Amino acid sequence: MNGSVLLIDDDPSVVSALARYFERARLEVFSALTAEEGLQLYEIHRPDVTVLDLKLPDRSGLDVLQALHSRGGTVILLTAHGDIETAVHAVKSGAENFLTKPVDLAHLDAVVERALEKARLKRFRSRMTEIDDERPLAGLGTSKRMRELAAKVKRVAEAERTTVLLLGESGTGKGWLAERIHRLSPRADAPFVEINCSTLTGTFLESELFGHQKGAFTDAKNMKRGMLEVADGGTIFLDEVGDLELSLQPKLLKMLESRSFRRIGGTREINVDVRVCAASNRDLPQAVSKGDFREDLFYRLNVMPIALPPLRERSLDDIVELSHRLFDELMREFPRGPRSIGSEALAALTRYRWPGNVRELRNVLERARIVAGAVDVLQPAHLPPEIIGATDVRGTGQVALVSMEEMEKRHIKRTLLHLKGNRTRTAKVLGISRATLHSKLNKYGLERAGLEADDK
Ligand SMILES: Nc1ncnc2c1ncn2[C@@H]1O[C@H](COP(=O)(O)OP(=O)(O)OP(=O)(O)O)[C@@H](O)[C@H]1O
Ligand SMILES: [Mg+2]
Repeated sequence: MNGSVLLIDDDPSVVSALARYFERARLEVFSALTAEEGLQLYEIHRPDVTVLDLKLPDRSGLDVLQALHSRGGTVILLTAHGDIETAVHAVKSGAENFLTKPVDLAHLDAVVERALEKARLKRFRSRMTEIDDERPLAGLGTSKRMRELAAKVKRVAEAERTTVLLLGESGTGKGWLAERIHRLSPRADAPFVEINCSTLTGTFLESELFGHQKGAFTDAKNMKRGMLEVADGGTIFLDEVGDLELSLQPKLLKMLESRSFRRIGGTREINVDVRVCAASNRDLPQAVSKGDFREDLFYRLNVMPIALPPLRERSLDDIVELSHRLFDELMREFPRGPRSIGSEALAALTRYRWPGNVRELRNVLERARIVAGAVDVLQPAHLPPEIIGATDVRGTGQVALVSMEEMEKRHIKRTLLHLKGNRTRTAKVLGISRATLHSKLNKYGLERAGLEADDK
């Protein structure tokens, strides 16, 4: 094995036993006794796998799990013996696997090995697909609203150093978009550095951002360059900027105004050339009025706000398109499982409210593919009950305005496009005969659909 593991458990004897075990397996090990410490270590080291105890002194293990999962972490849970219910719930909220205490080392070995393998694959594959992506903003959607948004994003990205503020609910794709903005910018070959202002606190965060001189504080054994220096020439992504502590806000403001700062304990001004891209799912004007966020900093950041709409406000077409896209991405990552989404499952996806937005949609599809197993077409039965049970919660708007026939027409067209005009496969996926497909294509005037490259 090679790779890195983060251990989070409040029992020092468990931590040290596991640490010794993993070190012998030649893994790099980081250990934390509290949730807070664990999240900070995660943010800094981005370990391949995190082994997390569900019972922690300072925060609920499920909260920590969610935080790690939303950051793309692969998590294995440790639970008390017999607490299967919690474990199952945890796996549903994104844990890779769970182990009961006392830990059986042979079992642990197998589970961690598998998780490491998966984490490596995930990283590799996501790099591959990202590089292959020729139209990096296509994922935003094809509705008029989203195409306009994409055009704006492109303009902003191409501007050399304009500060960008990404706003939107959790899971709408702010982190996703920040990276694309960097890649579309003239700075694409320089570093893209990400820092989460809500998981790190105090001197820890200050030193991550600005760096420190040797001896600046007790733990400062060596000089350290901050992320702003690391990002020089590139982009720094300040995620959850709305959670930035008040005490650090003036220092960030000054950096934005002068593009210079001092390391903690330093006397020299360091100049950097970075583009700042910030994101928040908080209502910043409200935070300003409550005194949690400095008004002057808000205006500095708010030069070019870009708001990502929640999924429930997006068009039916956007959701269908996004579902196909995410599904294909997942299929490339883990080829086993269904090859397409069936029409009924797709209809169910468009009826649901998606409080967790794109992230939730992706998770639902990923889980559904696992549940479906060797089946060829994803069916409603593979979806979680809250989604199958959803009655049209997207308001009386777009869904009601589309007739069944129109839905059928769109769905056939999309499936055909998706399968590059292959009628035999399309008929199979739709669960109808080729003859039926043929007559429907006639009826809807779709005889040529899927055959032309620029067919919409
Ligand atoms: N347009 C898209 N196409 C493909 N994948 C997307 C798209 N938008 C978001 N995603 C994926 O959805 C998930 C959630 O997106 P992301 O983490 O960027 O959300 P966020 O707005 O930063 O949420 P939070 O506020 O919770 O940090 C990620 O896995 C991301 O890769
Ligand atoms: Mg994010």
